[in-house]
Amino acid sequence: GVERDLQGKRVLVTAGPTVEAIDPVRYLTNRSSGKMGYAIAQAAALRGAEVTLVSGPTALDAPRGVRTVAVESAREMLAAAEEAFARCDIAVFAAAVSDMRPKNPASRKLKKGAADAELSTIELVENPDILSTLGNAKTSQVVVGFAAETDDVIENAQVKLSKKNADMIVANDVGGSLGFGTDDNKVWLVSADGVLDVPRLAKSEIADIVLDRAARFIEK
Ligand code: PMT
Repeated sequence: GVERDLQGKRVLVTAGPTVEAIDPVRYLTNRSSGKMGYAIAQAAALRGAEVTLVSGPTALDAPRGVRTVAVESAREMLAAAEEAFARCDIAVFAAAVSDMRPKNPASRKLKKGAADAELSTIELVENPDILSTLGNAKTSQVVVGFAAETDDVIENAQVKLSKKNADMIVANDVGGSLGFGTDDNKVWLVSADGVLDVPRLAKSEIADIVLDRAARFIEK
């Protein structure tokens, strides 16, 4: 049996991609499948936590015993995460949030061949950073972010750790064959007390290692 060491704890997880509307039929998104975040939500629930999973659109079934909140855009994800964050003990931000969104989503389908080139120029604006917003607003929550990097993985994760005021960053190298969409991952856990090099494992196993280390921050 699984040790219910997170009994009585509240865990928030964000997962999956966000989708940002261009018009009623088109959108901007990314390659996140949600597998990493869902694995963390499922592992936390199996360990006895009360889990809220805020998820962008994925093809996955909602994990058992988890309260799942479906969202689409980064702004919707922020609003849902903010609500659960206030009363959580551990927050894990595994979602691949779109850094930008179309500035003025059209209410009608954009037309090709339009005189004003409406399909060739889509003006973008920056989305809010959910991890940074909540990390910098934290009181006693343990805040765990991710870093999806293609170069200088650990250095970039260390920058995110301090900028986003996280307690730990799960860094993954997404430039190769692992990360987005895969069942396995290879990560480094980066915190102020050092870097833990985790070997390639199933996302379900990485989930437990992330939760083990996050749980240690609760007592501190
Ligand atoms: O979903 P899978 O297919 O299983 O793939 C897993 C994964 C590769 C998506 C996952 O392991 C991962 O790395 N998730 C974070 C992806 C990402 O957006 O990384 P980033 O380095 O751009 O962002 C850093 C951190 O800030 C992340 O915790 C992210 O959730 C957060 N962020 C980023 C931008 C933004 N606007 N808001 C955020 O909260």
